[in-house]
Amino acid sequence: MESSPKIALITGANRGLGLEIARQLGQRHYLVLLGARHEAAGRAAAALLVSEGLRAHYLPLDITLPDSVAQAAATVERDYGRLDVLVNNAVYFTRENQNPSQIAPDLLHHYLNTNFVAQVAVTQACLPLLHRSAAGRIVNMSSSIGSFATMGETLHTTPRLAAATPLGYSASKAALNMFTTLLAKELRLTSIKVNSADPGRTQTDMGGPDAPNTVEYGAKVAVWLACLDEDGPTGGFFAYQKANNW
Ligand SMILES: NC(=O)c1ccc[n+]([C@@H]2O[C@H](COP(=O)([O-])OP(=O)(O)OC[C@H]3O[C@@H](n4cnc5c(N)ncnc54)[C@H](OP(=O)(O)O)[C@@H]3O)[C@@H](O)[C@H]2O)c1
Repeated sequence: MESSPKIALITGANRGLGLEIARQLGQRHYLVLLGARHEAAGRAAAALLVSEGLRAHYLPLDITLPDSVAQAAATVERDYGRLDVLVNNAVYFTRENQNPSQIAPDLLHHYLNTNFVAQVAVTQACLPLLHRSAAGRIVNMSSSIGSFATMGETLHTTPRLAAATPLGYSASKAALNMFTTLLAKELRLTSIKVNSADPGRTQTDMGGPDAPNTVEYGAKVAVWLACLDEDGPTGGFFAYQKANNW
């Protein structure tokens, strides 16, 4: 008889890294729930993975809407009774001016709300379900652009990053990293592990076609952290199988 699969929820899974993380977890025999805010896109992404022989379902989820978050958690509880993996992947990103001297307060608020506050809210809604897993795993999709070390130290050393001053995106990912640190501390006596993942610049709508990493490679760090065994780290910030500077 087939054993019951592990259940993984990936937010923003209708395209980009979220879809590929879902695919790679599906290939590792997880049942994957593809969180997406637009029904047609979510259903199409789930159907694509099903056509590849994977166990995938669309889960309606706009991470910025409290009712949607509550409904998604209730659906997972009703259908599966627990959650083994949560990948906080969905992101807000625009090409608008984010220079610290000029960013509009509304835009800054939008970044912090989607990339930090909403990620915390989704996690809080899923925590009761993750506590019912034998080995819950939370992966927060972060970025070296949210690293104080990288953004500070490269001021004079890395021309591409020296010119990059995206306050909204950077601050939201730095805040997400602090969530990783403090939640891991709070959960240190449980079996749940919490880590931040840095996929590197990846060929998605956000990363652009010239990014160095393929989507297959970019997804690997999140999949690795989602599948950590008992001896694996918690409260860390990682590129694929390598620690990042905070
Ligand atoms: N690509 C890179 O170079 C790179 C580098 C470092 C870190 N990352 C991180 O990796 C993660 C994935 O990035 P990506 O490149 O795959 O981004 P992407 O291609 O722009 O995809 C973003 C995903 O987030 C979803 N989303 C946005 N707002 C949402 C909301 N309110 N509720 C639910 N879903 C929402 C989008 O859905 P819609 O289709 O409905 O818009 C889409 O599925 C992000 O956390 C990003 O910060 C990416």
